[in-house]
Amino acid sequence: MAIDPEKLLRPVDHPIPLYPPKMFTLASGEEMIIRQIGRDEIPDILPYIAPLMQVERDYYDIVSARVYAELLGYYKHRVQDEYVLVAQIDGHLAAIVNGRQLNPDVGVSFHTLALRRGLRVGSHAFAAKMEYHMDIMKQKEVLIVAESPIGFRRWMIEYQLEKRFEVAHELGGVPSYALTKKLFERARETLVVGRRPVPAKLLEKACQGILPPTDPPKPPFDVLAATRSMYDSTGTALMVARNLDKGGKKA
Ligand SMILES: CC(C)(COP(=O)(O)OP(=O)(O)OC[C@H]1O[C@@H](n2cnc3c(N)ncnc32)[C@H](O)[C@@H]1OP(=O)(O)O)[C@@H](O)C(=O)NCCC(=O)NCCS
Repeated sequence: MAIDPEKLLRPVDHPIPLYPPKMFTLASGEEMIIRQIGRDEIPDILPYIAPLMQVERDYYDIVSARVYAELLGYYKHRVQDEYVLVAQIDGHLAAIVNGRQLNPDVGVSFHTLALRRGLRVGSHAFAAKMEYHMDIMKQKEVLIVAESPIGFRRWMIEYQLEKRFEVAHELGGVPSYALTKKLFERARETLVVGRRPVPAKLLEKACQGILPPTDPPKPPFDVLAATRSMYDSTGTALMVARNLDKGGKKA
């Protein structure tokens, strides 16, 4: 009898309660909705993530490459117990967060990606996923790592996360930090904002389709600017490379 290999490869998800949608009024006065999406909406957002892989600034390249792979893994049933939340402003994609349940007590935070800057949308989206783990999944702690200095400031410092350096996080095996129930309760009043229920009309509009981000991070016109943001403040490495390309001598 032939065996369907897909049955062997595909992990079986545990039943996990859904994240109830939430809304925020941002500093700009715009309303933002955060809601959970299923596999059916993943192909809609992958094209908005792909261009960010060319943005070196603030580590968008590595984070978006990883988010892309994680979302594809979710879509193609190659990750167990993953979830994805999206933030939308007037239907347009503003942030993506994802993670998964490691076991009933412990959650794993994968990534937070802000596609609109300067409004703390990433911070709100991260808080929503912590709320999902703590209030909805009723977990004891969430394992978290940062891949960028802004991420480190937003999560490790703002939430004063505890070190769990004996635990290798699923993201590249770097040492973990953890959000505990106690830390979450302390942050609840200040960092975990937003309101429910989302009015039916607004939610309906958000669910009609995820529109492209209105002002996503873009690569610089001149790659010299990119090297400047990458610990080469004078851009010397690039200028030397350009000189060599033109047949010049190494300085
Ligand atoms: C980390 C991240 C999710 C935070 O999102 P956020 O809370 O919405 O915050 P922003 O990125 O808009 O702003 C971060 C800082 O940059 C500043 N900033 C604002 N607009 C900016 C812009 N257009 N470009 C660069 N920086 C900007 C903000 O003033 C803010 O400073 P503050 O911390 O003093 O408030 C987001 O920066 C991001 O997606 N970064 C790339 C991926 C990443 O690092 N993810 C986290 C992995 S650990």
